[in-house]
Amino acid sequence: MLVEETAILDKANRFIEMMRGKVNPQYRQNYHFSAPIGWINDPNGFIYYKGHYHLFYQYYPYDSRWGPMHWGHARSSDLVHWEDLPVALAPDQPYDSGGCFSGSAIERDGKLYLFYTGCQEIDGISHQHQCLAVSEDGIHFSKYSGNPVVAEKQLGENGLIQEFRDPKVIVHNDAYYMVVATKSTQSTGRIVMFQSSDLYTWHFYSVLLEGTLEQGIMWECPDLFHLDGRDVLIMSPIQIKKNGLEYHNISSTMACIGEVDWETGQMIVDNFHEMDFGMDFYAPQTTTDPNGGRVMIAWMQMWDRTLPTHELGHLWAGSMSLPRELRVKKNRLVQKPISTVYSHLVYQQGSENIAVTDTSVVFRNALSDSSYLHLVADLEKAEVFTIELLRSKTDCLKLTYDTAKQVFELDRQKLGRELTGAEEDPLNVRKVEIPLIDNQLVLEIFRDTSSVEVFINGLEVMTATFYELEKARDILFHSIGESRIQAFETASVK
Ligand code: FRU
Repeated sequence: MLVEETAILDKANRFIEMMRGKVNPQYRQNYHFSAPIGWINDPNGFIYYKGHYHLFYQYYPYDSRWGPMHWGHARSSDLVHWEDLPVALAPDQPYDSGGCFSGSAIERDGKLYLFYTGCQEIDGISHQHQCLAVSEDGIHFSKYSGNPVVAEKQLGENGLIQEFRDPKVIVHNDAYYMVVATKSTQSTGRIVMFQSSDLYTWHFYSVLLEGTLEQGIMWECPDLFHLDGRDVLIMSPIQIKKNGLEYHNISSTMACIGEVDWETGQMIVDNFHEMDFGMDFYAPQTTTDPNGGRVMIAWMQMWDRTLPTHELGHLWAGSMSLPRELRVKKNRLVQKPISTVYSHLVYQQGSENIAVTDTSVVFRNALSDSSYLHLVADLEKAEVFTIELLRSKTDCLKLTYDTAKQVFELDRQKLGRELTGAEEDPLNVRKVEIPLIDNQLVLEIFRDTSSVEVFINGLEVMTATFYELEKARDILFHSIGESRIQAFETASVK
């Protein structure tokens, strides 16, 4: 028995159609997904289904702030351009009256199954439990009348029902497993697994992994997959402690590389690390592409930050990262820009073999609101190589490589509107340690109206949002000791 769509869902869809034209376009993204109007956070239910990638997302259409969660919905055939679809889920049942929180999608016999967390207050205690909605066409969803399918009964003493969310359902050896975030009574993160043979009836299987006190007070949005011969668990820890250059945001993302013992349901972790060294990257989720590759997308924002589009009354907030292709190399998860984006590039400027010294080299009009930059620089004779992007008289986004320290830095302090957050200091500078490859620094930079993603030497990524006060397109290079730009090309992303 399935429950049909309701008035609450209808109301959301009517509101979006009526109001979407009123969104202020000033900071709207061009090729990164954002909702037609309103607030978004985590990507949900990311899946390739019947010829399209479907992306669902945590959604509150009525305000540019978080509110009772719906699941927004869009689809794409190339992961660059998105088509909005009607809202898929609204908080319209007693068991999800407090919101339809994050979750995942899986296909079975041509039907699309969404698993999400329903929030409900029972006897004054907030309960988070896992619910199911099913669709024949991938657009209209009916909630299962037996919801919730995983609740207090299945969780037992293995976690806290108040903090029990974000189910990711996967298949392993013909059985379904649901990986869910919860926490221990000592306030450490804990990922638990449930098992099912039919997606409707679930039983507790194991504690997959437990966090330490340093690793945050809760782990959100887990995702488990097998890649390049390793098992990978990614998740988003809240308040994980800083460790060197890692984990400086109030909430972070972490990849654990190791092996799952499917007999015991426990994971042995060989290495773990932060996934993105920028300021705005959270709750990533993955899916497989039709060729079996692993693709990831994340919310390109951070909790508890100032949000100019909200403060300015622009009626929207939040967007998604560029989808990224994943591989495991030397026990680290590495990310490449989604390969389909390259067929949307229209090349504009190109230069090669330019010496940069303490006399600056400037490229005028190099980066538009929707652009790509590829740069290869030989830093054999350099001490510090600096790139100032979006440079006006007063502002710029500064990227620096220090060859002695082997540290790359992204600095948005002097770019646009001031941004602050729950962190002790305004978090506008981040660094990552990264070696040169044969003395070379290789950058791929994706710039949209209000975001930048910097892929460094094919190994690390830094993602940041910004809100320019004045539009600027120049790029300036500067070097202490000589740097040699071997390749410089810019393109616009169409
Ligand atoms: C992560 C998160 C999830 C939760 C959702 C609520 O950003 O806190 O754990 O399901 O957002 O919107």
